[in-house]
Amino acid sequence: MKKTIRDVNLKDKKVLIRVDFNVPMKNGVITNDNRIVQALPTINYALENGAKVILFSHLGRVKEEADKAANSLAPVAKRLEELLNKKVYFVPTTRGKELEDAVNNMKVGDVVMFENTRWEDVPDKKESKNNPELGAYWASLGDVFVNDAFGTAHRAHASNAGIAANIKDSVAGFLMEKEIKFIGDAVDNPVRPFVAILGGAKVSDKISVIENLLTKADKILICGAMAYTFYKAQGWEVGTSKCEDDFVEFAKGLLEKANGKIVLPCDTVVSDKFPEDGDVIVKKTVASNAIPADMMGLDVGMGTIELFKKELQGAKTVVWNGPAGVFEVKEFAVGTNAICEALAELEGATTIIGGGDSASAAIKLGYEKKFTHISTGGGASLEYLEGKELPGVACINDK
Ligand code: 3PG
Repeated sequence: MKKTIRDVNLKDKKVLIRVDFNVPMKNGVITNDNRIVQALPTINYALENGAKVILFSHLGRVKEEADKAANSLAPVAKRLEELLNKKVYFVPTTRGKELEDAVNNMKVGDVVMFENTRWEDVPDKKESKNNPELGAYWASLGDVFVNDAFGTAHRAHASNAGIAANIKDSVAGFLMEKEIKFIGDAVDNPVRPFVAILGGAKVSDKISVIENLLTKADKILICGAMAYTFYKAQGWEVGTSKCEDDFVEFAKGLLEKANGKIVLPCDTVVSDKFPEDGDVIVKKTVASNAIPADMMGLDVGMGTIELFKKELQGAKTVVWNGPAGVFEVKEFAVGTNAICEALAELEGATTIIGGGDSASAAIKLGYEKKFTHISTGGGASLEYLEGKELPGVACINDK
């Protein structure tokens, strides 16, 4: 069990809170503030318990000086100010006198946020390579470290592992606690039957997840373009569908090992071409073992949805990661939407979305509140489902 923010005294303390405010932005405008919203319980708890709150996060990838301005956290600080309904003192730097003065002048209840931790990646990747001087410096600014950045937990960076190595109290925030509980319990201690739905484009991206879940789940329902590699492994025609030929043998081995645990789509929506804007396409639904040689699979059919619903009946734990088709294109989003709907309506089950595209689909469709947990981590939740120890979790003190 990891220590949480409830286990430390925050009164009059300078509390360093690492959040993951790596939010999507378009021309400096935040297009989805979910990660900021999800961090509010931890921030508010710290404030209510007499802390001085120092917030920091990475944003995007900063490879050269010119990337800094486009990856400033200033718009995020503004949005946080609106959500907290309170002043957020934004410090436009990651170190030095201005930051130290701001921190030293804080009163109880103040919130300071400093610039994108990855500004320190120019010139020599201090943040991303967990430079010991940087971790020690940031740790020296506070008394307690709260790691609430689950989305970044698969990285061993100065702003998580580095600080934790240089401060006595490293604890989890509420979001981190929730992510560890739901994803960790699902994988290590699931209430059965446990069904995993795995989609997405590539088998190669999901190898470790499938291998790990094969030993834990009662059923694995495969969809998305990665299903076509499994079709080929069965000796079925895949036409012009995306297929990873190098992984056909691997998929064959998995199917043998799975002994019926892996369920493939029974029907597939095919098209004569990958649709670009305004394209007129020929589209039809065929049995999965009868894809025409000149067509490509882009979604699962409704027969598959019925099949998956049957497999989900009575499930007590369900984890879903990866879309069922090319959900960015309306005509091929039907399968992903139907899975989302089926899970939202599933009664008596803990339903977890393992971040990334499936999380965006559920939020976009308005099913946000219908799931037990939608992870804020993309890569992090995938690595957690692989059964890996995440450095951002490992660096939190045990109880
Ligand atoms: C994410 O969005 O997955 C996290 O914030 C981590 O970002 P990164 O892949 O740039 O490290």
